[in-house]
Amino acid sequence: MDAARETVILLDFGAQYNQLIARRVRECRVFCEILPYSTPWAEIMQHKPRGIILSGGPASVYGEEAPQCDPAVFRSGLPVLGICYGMQLMAAVLGGRVAAAPGREYGRARLTVLDATDALFAGLPREQDVWMSHGDQIIATPPGFIVTARTDYAPVAAMRDTQRRLYGVQFHPEVQHTPFGQEILRRFLYDVCGCTGTWTMRAFIDEQIEQIRETVGEGRVIAALSGGVDSTVAAVLVHRAVGERLTCIFVDHGLLREGEAEVVPPRLAREGLRVIHVDAAARFLAKLAGVTDPEEKRRVIGHEFIRVFEEEARKVGRVDYLVQGTLYPDVIESGTATAATIKSHHNVGGLPAEMELKLIEPLRLLFKDEVRRVGSELGLPEDILWRHPFPGPGLAVRILGEVTPEKLAILRQADAIVVEEIRLAGLYRDVWQAFAVLPSSIRSVGVMGDGRTYAYPIIVRAVTSEDAMTADWARLPYDVLARIASRIVNEVPMVNRVVYDITAKPPATIEWE
Ligand code: XMP
Repeated sequence: MDAARETVILLDFGAQYNQLIARRVRECRVFCEILPYSTPWAEIMQHKPRGIILSGGPASVYGEEAPQCDPAVFRSGLPVLGICYGMQLMAAVLGGRVAAAPGREYGRARLTVLDATDALFAGLPREQDVWMSHGDQIIATPPGFIVTARTDYAPVAAMRDTQRRLYGVQFHPEVQHTPFGQEILRRFLYDVCGCTGTWTMRAFIDEQIEQIRETVGEGRVIAALSGGVDSTVAAVLVHRAVGERLTCIFVDHGLLREGEAEVVPPRLAREGLRVIHVDAAARFLAKLAGVTDPEEKRRVIGHEFIRVFEEEARKVGRVDYLVQGTLYPDVIESGTATAATIKSHHNVGGLPAEMELKLIEPLRLLFKDEVRRVGSELGLPEDILWRHPFPGPGLAVRILGEVTPEKLAILRQADAIVVEEIRLAGLYRDVWQAFAVLPSSIRSVGVMGDGRTYAYPIIVRAVTSEDAMTADWARLPYDVLARIASRIVNEVPMVNRVVYDITAKPPATIEWE
């Protein structure tokens, strides 16, 4: 890791907002890496941090097995900012007192700054709104600390020990409901930790290019392009580093959205990337004949994908590395207990284990919004960078029942109308995903002109989400829904009805299969 990179370590005590803290820090142009709270001091130091942030968490410092960090954190002389549980832990470890608050303080609170010269609050309003979410509170600060802010309910809403550069806030500076939260974080990073804000996407790109060159040496690299933003940005970044020693393979499994196969490969070819475009639609369709079970569809597609990819890769000749578009949330999550498999996500990169390729994951430290910024810095067009996520098994998991060419044609056309109308309404970026689903075992009666129809319905699904883990149905304006419905029934053959899915995730999932 580059020693010149200004890094702050976030020790994760399990609060729901922790990734947000890291993102806010990075918005201040300081790199932030999330590590488990139990990370030994020696390992923390390998990152050469300028400061440490202790996150919030659901535990109580007096609870049995309350999570503790390495005590060296408080003795190191590095600046530390404790947030919520992080501050309570700091207080408890250093000789202060924490107790259950008379009532749980949750929501907006009015903060009164008691020391306007405090590094965190300097130049900010003495009275400001903050977001609180805690059941415990500090009732006595540790020796050496002073109270720097309070609320009506929390006598110690912020504290500091200037000598040891230890700071704590009971509220959550990372959420939008704390309007000056970003300013408070910035003051910690710049004025306490001494960072200057050198973490930019340009700097990241230069650093990655150098690292990839060093790793790959004279080796050869392949990438599987899916058409999605992550694999595209990863490929372009690697191409900047190794040029023509990268070969990209774009497998068209015939389950893509309308126009998809026509946009990404030629665009990247124009960038100078070598792209092998494999039209494998017939193979996939043959394998999918008669398959109706959702997990079986994923298995068949995943399996066939490996075979096609390997065949093409073999034609490339000797290859040493495989590019994968893994993002930071996956990296963090794979470090925690794995959740139950709800759907076996067919992840392209994990596939060719037998090929013994070494992985290059140039985006593994980035959040999605940062990937888009990297892509934009690399000169990729908006329509590629802002494309909605699309599942690996493609339209196959949006046709409920057997996949056939006829059903694919119907679904593709309906889907294109959904997306086009949402774009025309200027809402494309406001929704996380919007698409059509064809429940092909259902037919319903309708009337068109003077005649009775008996045809498929189309389900329209549009959701808002931060990360696809949870989602809500998008409150699309009625007139947009009306246009979508009217166009679909008028333009798409074999469809006489359109319904809108108004279920959140959970309990539903985003996709129907
Ligand atoms: P669900 O349906 O589980 O989807 O709420 C969450 C996100 O994951 C995408 N998704 C997939 N992506 N292979 C993928 O690569 C899959 O099998 C798959 N299934 C769902 C989905 O589109 C959403 O963005």
